[in-house]
Amino acid sequence: MEKIYKNFRILVAEDYEKVSSMAADIIAKQVSSKITSVLGLATGSTPVGAYQDLARLNKLGVVDFEKVTTFNLDEYYPINKKNNQSYDYFMKDNLFNHINIAPGNTFIPNGEAADAAKECLEYESRIESAGGIDLQLLGIGLNGHIGFNEPADIFPQITHHVKLDDSTIKANSRFFDNANDVPKHALTMGVGTIMRSAQILLLISGAGKAEIAQKVIFGDITPKVPGTALQLHRSVTVILDKPAAEKVTPML
Ligand code: F6R
Repeated sequence: MEKIYKNFRILVAEDYEKVSSMAADIIAKQVSSKITSVLGLATGSTPVGAYQDLARLNKLGVVDFEKVTTFNLDEYYPINKKNNQSYDYFMKDNLFNHINIAPGNTFIPNGEAADAAKECLEYESRIESAGGIDLQLLGIGLNGHIGFNEPADIFPQITHHVKLDDSTIKANSRFFDNANDVPKHALTMGVGTIMRSAQILLLISGAGKAEIAQKVIFGDITPKVPGTALQLHRSVTVILDKPAAEKVTPML
């Protein structure tokens, strides 16, 4: 099912596999139409299937990443890049090691930086120097966070240092031996950074995300639910699987 609702193009797919293949096709089309595309990338469980599909398309010669540049949304802070829970490790493991991208063209906020504030400013200006992001891939947190922009009183404008919400630490503890091992801080693009990208591709999967999916698309725009800012972006495609779309489909 495909529906236009305000600024959102909403695609409801049968299941997670279909969400992933549709997302990979959209990213591949972006790269084919502009070989020097600047992609914004996400970590977490949701994009893993799309990354596998992109690696497959790359091997088949359907998509060429040689001249592509990528900027990841966020990274834990502080964290050693060699830690297998760092987003640096995640991106190599799930995507970069499987496609023909130049390692020097892949950017992730540096979780090893001595000066977090300086790293954030430099990250923001690296994005600007690359000409801005053409297509930003996003997942959504259960609390509505995008990147690691947690519920707050304002929408942060640029890449910054954040303290993670207890709910985010709990949600991400599934990847660690226990919740105490989850870093308490992160570096993340701001909501403003995300909003400056030309296009956004938001993936939402699973019944657990049904409530937040509905809020992001139809709820009041508020920094208490950071993803609601996307209602003000000019070009957002949302792909949901049926369980995630349960409370969205009836409102379309
Ligand atoms: C990851 C990120 C986060 C995740 C969100 C959903 O880089 O920025 O906002 O997209 O926490 O995570 P999953 O996909 O694991 O449910």
